[in-house]
Amino acid sequence: MDSQVNDLHADKLRSDPRVVEAERLLREALQDAQAGIDGPRPPHPHRRQEYQAMLERLAAARGGPTYFPYIASGIGQGPWVELVDGSIKLDFITGIGVHGLGHSHPALLAAGLRAALEDTVMQGNLQQHRASLDIMERLLTIAQAGGAKLDHCMLTTSGAMANENALKIAFHNRHPADRVLALDNCFAGRSLATAQLTDRPLYRVGLPTALTVDYIPPEDPQHSPESRQRSLAAADKLLRRHPGKYAVLWLELVAGEGGYYPGSTEFFVQLIERVKADGALVVFDEVQTFGRLSRPFAFQHFGLDAHADIVTVGKITQLCATLYGSQLKPTAPILSQTFTAASSSIEACRTVLDELENSQCFGEQGGNVQRHEYFASRLQQLADKHVGKIAGPWGAGMMIAFTPGDGSAECARDLVHRLFDAGLMSFVAGSTPARVRFLPPPAVTTRQHIDAAIEILDHVLADWTGKSTQTPTAGGKD
Ligand SMILES: Cc1ncc(COP(=O)(O)O)c(C=O)c1O
Repeated sequence: MDSQVNDLHADKLRSDPRVVEAERLLREALQDAQAGIDGPRPPHPHRRQEYQAMLERLAAARGGPTYFPYIASGIGQGPWVELVDGSIKLDFITGIGVHGLGHSHPALLAAGLRAALEDTVMQGNLQQHRASLDIMERLLTIAQAGGAKLDHCMLTTSGAMANENALKIAFHNRHPADRVLALDNCFAGRSLATAQLTDRPLYRVGLPTALTVDYIPPEDPQHSPESRQRSLAAADKLLRRHPGKYAVLWLELVAGEGGYYPGSTEFFVQLIERVKADGALVVFDEVQTFGRLSRPFAFQHFGLDAHADIVTVGKITQLCATLYGSQLKPTAPILSQTFTAASSSIEACRTVLDELENSQCFGEQGGNVQRHEYFASRLQQLADKHVGKIAGPWGAGMMIAFTPGDGSAECARDLVHRLFDAGLMSFVAGSTPARVRFLPPPAVTTRQHIDAAIEILDHVLADWTGKSTQTPTAGGKD
């Protein structure tokens, strides 16, 4: 039968003039409601009491206060977001890298409408729809652009679960090898297995050991030959100690939670070649890096296409996925879940991929690189002006960071809360030193937004000692 003929009830619904008109009206209403959401605004005093009560209810429901006193009202524009206290903040942390099109993007409204017209809210492994097929193929096509041999895509609902699936694929293939080699300070999630891999002892207090992981130091931020040699020597020592026992080399190509330090291609290639010679598979954890550098995948940015055995994505993609080569296809039913993703997440993912591409985020001199250079140059000006209060390095692409004051955790936290109060949202990363980081939404951040962030930062730094001496006004826990 000719599939071009509009003979499916679903297609008739989508092209129904009432649906088309409803979308037009909603876009118009959104645009009207967004008027004036284009700069920082302090809370409305008359909302303070009600907001405080809501925050207390939220803390009671979730079992502790949130990091920021943040409850979204449900509208924003670009990186600007309105909170229920009436304030407008510049959101340069975006749910730790999730809201890559900022807030209330009209294309995401349209994506939500398309999803609302689907017959089900959730998609699953047993029953999938057309858009599921489309998004799996799309992620694979993007991943294969530079020759990476990634043939299959498994969708899932969290970065931790995508990483669990990556570990399962690798262990299954390399059985009986059962060790993981990872870099110091890596963060892979908080499931039982990924909490073991995540290099934060506090995140596994009271949990049984689910994995055997050995860590080596990454290169230092300056990529010094000495630090590279130190790292490779540490890997060699472990490979000699446990020959043939490593199933996985786990890599974040820009250390995310570790403090926004990009590695170098030379280092990665040398490390990968040594570890692969021992039989291990390479997993690139791109849950935080995807969409933020000069190419969609960080492994493409670093020219490591030939080395990608398994790759995970999440956050900005609005759904999570594990990509892997057909030679690694498990021979037992070790991979499955009820949910693959929500219909809305799948539509949102398609939209985010479109917008990242259409807004020219990628390329040697694409938007991500240019915005980074501009942001870094403005941060350097602040560092020269407020000596000792902020220092580089400044991260990579749309993963921007700086070392605040004395580099202590208290100092970073204090500054993050002061910035929040002044209208700029950031977050902490790293430990020694602690860093303040930004994850601006790549597709919509302009120089004017960066200037607005710098203006707030400049203002806050002027009154800040660089040491944690004052109690932040906003409560919360890490
Ligand atoms: C590199 C990396 N991997 C995995 C995860 C875990 O993702 P999720 O929080 O969606 O489970 C994160 C989250 O911050 C991450 O940054």
